[in-house]
Amino acid sequence: MTRAKLPSSLGQEDARRRVDELRREIERHRRLYYVEARPEISDPEYDALERELRALEEKFPALDDPHSPTHRVGGEPIEGFETVAHSEPMLSLDNSFSEEELREFDARLRRLVGDAVSYVVELKIDGLGVALRYDGEGRLARAVTRGDGLRGDDVTANVRTIRSLPLLVEPTGFAFEVRGEVYMPRPALERLNARREEAGEEAFANPRNAAAGSIRLLDPRVVAGRGLRAFVYALHASAEQHARLPKTHDGTLAWLAERGFPVNPHHRTCHSVEEILKFSRECEAKRASLDYDVDGVVAKLDEHRLREEAGSTSKHPRWAVAHKFAAQRATTVLRKIVVQVGRTGALTPVAELEPVGLAGSTVSRATLHNEDEIARKDVREGDTVVLEKGGDVIPKVVAVVEEKRRKGARRFRMPERCPTCGAEVYRPEGEAVRRCVGAACPAKLRNALLHFARRNAMDIEGLGPSLVDQLMEKGMVASAASLYSLRFEELAALERMGEKSARNLLAQIEKSKRNGLARLLFALGVRHVGERAAELLAQRFGSLDAVASAQREDIEKIYELGPAVAESIAHFFADKENRKVIEEIRCAGVSLEKPKEEGAVAARTLEGKTFVLTGTLASMTREEAKREIERRGGRVTSAVTKKTGCVVAGAEPGSKLEKAKALGVEIADEKEFLRMVGREADSG
Ligand code: IVH
Repeated sequence: MTRAKLPSSLGQEDARRRVDELRREIERHRRLYYVEARPEISDPEYDALERELRALEEKFPALDDPHSPTHRVGGEPIEGFETVAHSEPMLSLDNSFSEEELREFDARLRRLVGDAVSYVVELKIDGLGVALRYDGEGRLARAVTRGDGLRGDDVTANVRTIRSLPLLVEPTGFAFEVRGEVYMPRPALERLNARREEAGEEAFANPRNAAAGSIRLLDPRVVAGRGLRAFVYALHASAEQHARLPKTHDGTLAWLAERGFPVNPHHRTCHSVEEILKFSRECEAKRASLDYDVDGVVAKLDEHRLREEAGSTSKHPRWAVAHKFAAQRATTVLRKIVVQVGRTGALTPVAELEPVGLAGSTVSRATLHNEDEIARKDVREGDTVVLEKGGDVIPKVVAVVEEKRRKGARRFRMPERCPTCGAEVYRPEGEAVRRCVGAACPAKLRNALLHFARRNAMDIEGLGPSLVDQLMEKGMVASAASLYSLRFEELAALERMGEKSARNLLAQIEKSKRNGLARLLFALGVRHVGERAAELLAQRFGSLDAVASAQREDIEKIYELGPAVAESIAHFFADKENRKVIEEIRCAGVSLEKPKEEGAVAARTLEGKTFVLTGTLASMTREEAKREIERRGGRVTSAVTKKTGCVVAGAEPGSKLEKAKALGVEIADEKEFLRMVGREADSG
């Protein structure tokens, strides 16, 4: 990032004026861009404003303020979330799936509050409900997820990174709570899923999972890159303040929009079921052109006084209803049914389609689940099929248009042999899937390698699908064990690789040797041994050899594990090929043991002290330095504040060092730091 140039003569008072002006400007442009969708300046111009503000705040730490837009990403990874009780329960909505159900809702409500009802109808956003607390000075003080409706997780640090939400609004003089929906726009989800697949991680099935998964990440810096957005639709305050707040929902939305909150533009006042249905149909027609997923409209009684009269059940308010849209459908030609082979050899049929527009994106693949499903619907290659997109990213084939079937189309039959390696497939009794038994099946190997390298397995960053494909094509890998004998020259010679990436990859592979037993067990891909089971096995047995020679009864005795795991482990370690791979892994120096409890070994000499690392250390990576601090009870954060205990400054330190000096925080150079963590420098 380039730093903004400041006039060297700038005094604190001028700086204060400029800082105020910049914060107002940035807030105005944030609002124009995210709330009103009519930006006046380009992204680089906006970035330049933020850069100038950041430079001023760094030069004049007294002007810094945690609520400044430069601190959207406070940047301190956290250990976990605090659970917080909601001031009022966050209820869910009753659903209506038909015109009839909507009429019943309306009639019931009229019986409760009389005939003079008017509704505000808005979009139902497919995301995750949150409650945002603003204090009397207009500062975003706390953000909590809906949770079970009574209590949720405090996700303030993550919600602050959402740029469509204001961190600071015009002070009201009293605290209030705004409720709304955090969501992931479709383009952001597509980008995220592409990245995850490239990294060998599982894609998010739908935008709701993606939003919920992102808001629960422990590192706000990662959340900031996820492109989350929000819409708000409710306002709460203590009873004493009610007189100062709008009396209607329409008024509330206007109140929120005036203060720079993101209010969804698609809402309308309706006076009858007919009007609601008309608006609902209009929204449904617009659905694909929105860049976020919606699954219906919500009709809400406008008048707050009448809402009180109607009241709520324990689950939902009686004054609102979600009128659901029908699942979106499209018709296209199924070109081919391809059968994919997974890591465990499972054969999965997938439909390859004539590309067709559906729900705002172009679809060329759909799931067919398994062979029984194909048989039940009698799906054949060349058929015209009906696709349906529910809440999930990948649509499913729901029916065949039989009139359009071409003559001679043959019933689909699952292959008798593996489509990749030609080995036999078998379908165990009572299971819906066939599996390839081929020990050397390339499809199994490919997926096994990707699984091995996954972040929660051996965490080998950079080993994604395209690299695995190259390694396999060149015959450089025969099993996960081969990764440990890859050589620099052959890696560097690969396409799109180069020396730097080769070196990084080897460093990642080297690092993975120290992951310990639990991750290794999970990475090996034993059927039924997920992350949790691997952890339990590692705890109980302590070494891979002990797991391999464990009696089935001993495994079954572990609470949470059962005969399926025991059987699968016995099977895995009885296999000659698997034993060979493990021997190779052992010879490569991969740890097959449960790591010793590190914290217990090191004295907790840094207990409670907060560190900030800046610049590069010659003797260890940032990760290692962090581990050393944490082993001794210290904490590493990324922003320097008055509360920081010590700033460790390596070579070429950044502005954090200056900030530490300005705040009078203790500063340690590398030598001093090494002494603190008991790793005296080798030579003077
Ligand atoms: S109003 C008491 N309005 O849908 C009523 N909810 O099952 C509170 N949602 O938990 C909700 N869009 O997270 C409301 N325009 C909208 C909404 C909306 C999405 C979510 C919300 C709620 C769930 C209801």
